Amino acid sequence: MLARVGKITDIGAGQMRVVRVGDAKVSLANVGGTFYAFDDTCTHQGCSLASGELSGTTVTCPCHGREFDVRSGEVLEGPADEPVATAVEIDGDDIVVRSPA
Ligand code: FES
Repeated sequence: MLARVGKITDIGAGQMRVVRVGDAKVSLANVGGTFYAFDDTCTHQGCSLASGELSGTTVTCPCHGREFDVRSGEVLEGPADEPVATAVEIDGDDIVVRSPA
């Protein structure tokens, strides 16, 4: 499922925001003007990654500190190893997200 979830001006550089795509919650991150999307649900115990801290291209889960690369969804450090899904496109000024599988 593809969904237009906002405008590129809605999220400032270094900021994150959670949006709904169907039944899924997706985090959006603006890293220096490049947008990334990933499943908002941490694959450890389900905390919201959009509530975590964004540093460069790394998001740190607020609950137990697992780190994910927002570009790929891969786990960089943490208590388990399941990545979060990713998919985002920019269409004009619109942010378009594909729902996580
Ligand atoms: S819920 Fe994210 S690290 Fe534990």
